[in-house]
Amino acid sequence: MITNYLEEQKKKLNTIRNDLKIAIIGLGYVGLPLSVAFGKHFQTLGYDINYLRIRELLNGIDYTQELSNEQIAEAIFLNFTTKIEELQGADIFIIAVPTPVDVSKRPDLSFLQNASRGIGKLLKKNSIVIYESTVYPGCTEEECVPILEKESGLIFNQDFFCGYSPERINPGDPTRPITSIRKVTSGSTPEVAEFIDQLYKRVITAGTFKASSIRVAEASKAIENAQRDVNISFMNELALLFDKLNIDTHDVLEAAATKWNFLNFKPGLVGGHCIGVDPYYLLHKAESVGYHPQVLLSGRRINDQMGVYIANKVVKLMIRKGHKIDGSRVLILGITYKENCPDIRNSKVIDVIRELKEFGLKVEVWDPVASAETVYQELSIRLISQPSGTYDSIILAVAHQPFLSLCWDSIKNENTIIYDVKSVLDQALVTARL
Ligand SMILES: NC(=O)c1ccc[n+]([C@@H]2O[C@H](COP(=O)([O-])OP(=O)(O)OC[C@H]3O[C@@H](n4cnc5c(N)ncnc54)[C@H](O)[C@@H]3O)[C@@H](O)[C@H]2O)c1
Repeated sequence: MITNYLEEQKKKLNTIRNDLKIAIIGLGYVGLPLSVAFGKHFQTLGYDINYLRIRELLNGIDYTQELSNEQIAEAIFLNFTTKIEELQGADIFIIAVPTPVDVSKRPDLSFLQNASRGIGKLLKKNSIVIYESTVYPGCTEEECVPILEKESGLIFNQDFFCGYSPERINPGDPTRPITSIRKVTSGSTPEVAEFIDQLYKRVITAGTFKASSIRVAEASKAIENAQRDVNISFMNELALLFDKLNIDTHDVLEAAATKWNFLNFKPGLVGGHCIGVDPYYLLHKAESVGYHPQVLLSGRRINDQMGVYIANKVVKLMIRKGHKIDGSRVLILGITYKENCPDIRNSKVIDVIRELKEFGLKVEVWDPVASAETVYQELSIRLISQPSGTYDSIILAVAHQPFLSLCWDSIKNENTIIYDVKSVLDQALVTARL
């Protein structure tokens, strides 16, 4: 049955461009670029529960700043909807909803479960559901498939099929569009895996890698981010150590990097919804099978304390320079979790701000990339529209493009402490860097 279906689909993929109907569920940083990529080749319907998001997209506005009006319009077979029933009749459902952690750092699968419930009712014979959200190994088949079976009344791997294809998109980086990043694919049967791989090959020009199973594909994504987290945590540990030894960490890294196999990582704030979150998904799965990871957790602990460390370091530098701390003015440059991207989810700059405020400093935050409205709603911080006067200290927390060509003389005086978290400023300008 499935073989016939695949043969049929294969023919369609090779001959009829837009016959295959694709539904994309969740149109955020991942779902929108994916919809546009598919919408250039196939009839694609993007669905989101956020009415405002759909209204903006219908007007060619992308608040994530990843795609322009013109780029969205290039997807000539793409449409958007807030009505889930309009997805009825789709052949392929691709799910790209959030997978955050709760306050206790446990996986919050509610978005994934709700999305699965919603589309479960729409499944028909031979539907394929592909998950793109980052999860732990086993999540698709253990958590999502039972919901799909229950809601549809269909049998997995007999009536409908699943796949998992993790997303590697890099927001804020126009040099790496989604189609230029090689994609891991997988499927619940060998035939479906092949079909899904062929499907992605049609839109991902960089090509694909067909993993041996859904669990392997899920695990591969989780460890990509966990590896980065651990590697950065080692750099952060070095930064904490070298600070005590009065050695510049970046000078050390520059020297060490002259060896052919030294890995190029830098210390920094590790925020966002991926690197700082995915290790907890792995941890959750590890603990469910009685394994208590050591390396994974130690990395998280170090990375999570860097905001407090930076604030304390700046205060010490200010005291050394004779500043009265209480009431001093500090300018924070950037509040998003990464450069040139408006995403503030799980940004660790907030840790720096909170700690500085506890010292009694007057903190002003400037971020021309973030949405002032979202920052106020989510973090209760009012961004300033422009710096005014000179500051007692300035912390470059995020390397947004506009900060790299600032007129520093208008915001600093000879006593201003300038701390460079990202190590991107002229060394002659800065007092210290992380
Ligand atoms: N942003 C990244 O850089 C990135 C990279 C790789 C992987 N991921 C992973 O991809 C997934 C999505 O991340 P994102 O950054 O795109 O999230 P996002 O918050 O930007 O977008 C998610 C969208 O899903 C919508 N949504 C939530 N529940 C829904 C439902 N039941 N039905 C329809 N829409 C629903 C939300 O309204 C939102 O617009 C996550 O698992 C994330 O970890 C993200």
